[in-house]
Order: sequence, then structure tokens, then C-alpha cells
Amino acid sequence: MRCGTGVVRPGRRRWFLGSGAGRALPGTGARGAHVHPRHRRGPAAAARRRRSDRGRPADTARRRHRARRRPGGQGRPGGTVRRGGRPDRPGGCPVSTVDSACGRASVAWRADPYTDALRTGRGPLFLRRHDGWLLPLEVERWCDQADSADMAVLRRCEGPVLDIGCGPGRLVAALAAHGSRALGIDVHPAAVARAVHSGGSALCRSVFDGLPGEGRWGTALLLDGNIGIGGAPEALLRRVAEITAPRGLLLVEGACADVDERVEVRVDDTRGGLGATFPWARAGISAVERHGRAAGWTAVEEWSTEERCFVALRRAN
Ligand SMILES: C[S@@+](CC[C@H](N)C(=O)[O-])C[C@H]1O[C@@H](n2cnc3c(N)ncnc32)[C@H](O)[C@@H]1O
Repeated sequence: MRCGTGVVRPGRRRWFLGSGAGRALPGTGARGAHVHPRHRRGPAAAARRRRSDRGRPADTARRRHRARRRPGGQGRPGGTVRRGGRPDRPGGCPVSTVDSACGRASVAWRADPYTDALRTGRGPLFLRRHDGWLLPLEVERWCDQADSADMAVLRRCEGPVLDIGCGPGRLVAALAAHGSRALGIDVHPAAVARAVHSGGSALCRSVFDGLPGEGRWGTALLLDGNIGIGGAPEALLRRVAEITAPRGLLLVEGACADVDERVEVRVDDTRGGLGATFPWARAGISAVERHGRAAGWTAVEEWSTEERCFVALRRAN
């Protein structure tokens, strides 16, 4: 599949904000090195990788979450958002323009390197930490179709699905193709436009702004390292609890390494393109569960597949 004009290689690369402890890669040394192998490894990551795709009960709640998907589900949050059209909720924005909410949110994500990568469907692209660490962003995978690891997540969705930080929209497109109600939100207009182009419904909006169907989403998704959005996982998880329905489900991709850190980063293509600094976070599964507990979530399942690690959390009420 192509995203933009560039040929997209189906890749196995991981979002290394979400896995591996990371290793300093001086920009010059990393030039052309799309994913540093050291980002993939580590004992904790290996331990996570050994776990079965079918998942296991989380330590905190030894309850098995059955694999199931209920198209339609409860209510119609986001039902007023037309694919490729203008949401009829006041304050909504056409998918390919920036409204005031989008204007306020995460301007740094709209830095040229990310825009270029979305346009071409290619990296290299990284988040650069102040100390020079480069954390690879898997643009090719995001611009490809949902893979088996993604589908294992989507099979667990219940009711209408909100994909937070949807990027080019492979997940909302896959859900739409399966007849499930789903909306992607992202602060990047080009990402939203791509998501719509790929067949999903998407809205240019920050998760911290007013959203359609607040309190009625059956499932929220925070994948590809998006637990880092805003740089404060607990605050993000509290916000997601407001958005989801009582007993709603939250599916999070965490780092496969045991990390819990807040960082200042910039989008960097290592070819001279550098965005503004913004806060981000990295959280392993244990940290996601811990932040989740503080925000009113209970972990109900963990699983790993294709070297990616996930946890399902359920809202208490
Ligand atoms: C790590 S990328 C994940 C990409 C995405 N999951 C995909 O499949 O392409 C983070 C995404 O979150 C978006 N983002 C950043 N801050 C956001 C916010 N406050 N609300 C919604 N989306 C946000 C960025 O524009 C970016 O597309």
C-alpha cells in the first residue's frame, strides 16, 4: 500500500518510543540509519516478546479479556462526523484544515519533517531527545495497512472506537472496512487528511479539547507510543477516562522495556529538518498500569505480538 507518493515498504520496525530502552544516537551517526538495532533489544523487551500473542491476565487483575468485537455497540459517539466531510458539531473542523483547537495543540507535531514523512510515507524520522538520543518513528508502518499485531488489538475493541493520535489512519481504515464505527483524532491536518483518504473517519482535534461523543466511546486506542502524548501519562489517562463510556475499554501499546520517563523531544529527520521542542513520555506496561490505576483504570489483560507490547485497561465505572 502507498501513502502519499512514496513506495512504502511493509516494515516490521517498531515505534521505539514504545519499546527498548533507547540508546544515544548522535544525529550524524544516525544519518540514514532508520532504526538502530539497539532500540529493539533488552532483557525486558525479550521477556515481553516471549509472551504469547493470545495474552495473559494482568498481574493486577487476573481476569481474562475475551477476544471479541462488537460492531456498532453502544451509542453513536462520533456519528455526526462524516468521512471526508465536516463534523456538524460546533467547533468541528473540515478534515484538511486547521481549526483553532488544532492550532493550539501540539504545533510541534506539524513540523515539516513529520509533514514530509506523511507526504512521502517514508522516514527516516525520529524524536530527538535533548541529550541526542534518537527514537525512531515507524512512518512506513503507520502508512501501511494494519498488520497482524494491529488486528490483534482491533479484535479486542468493543463498541465505537476512538483512535487517539491516529496519524495516517490505518486503524480507523481497518475498522471501517470491517463495519465498525470508529473515529480517529490527530492534531496534524495532513495525518487526518490521509486517514480520511484511506477510508476512515477522522477529525483534526487534540485529545485535550472537546470531542464528539465524550463519555460514550466503547474503546479508546493509544497505540504506537501514543501514551506519550502530552508528556504526562497519568493526565492523559484521566482525560481518556472522561472520553470513554462507563466500563469502557482502553487499549494501550506500551514500551516493551521497563521504562517510565518524561522527555522533551523534537521531530528530526536527521537531514536538517528539525521541529520545535515538545513534551513526550515513554512508559512500559507496568508504568502504564500504574498510571492507569491512578487515573481510574484497571488492567485486565496484557499481551505482546510482533515485538510490540500491549495492555487492556477497563474504566471502573
Ligand atoms: C507517535 S505518532 C503515532 C502515529 C499513529 N498512531 C499512526 O498510526 O500513524 C503520534 C501522533 O499523535 C498525534 N498527536 C500528538 N499530540 C496529539 C494530541 N494532543 N491529540 C491528538 N493527537 C496528537 C501526532 O500528530 C501524531 O500523528
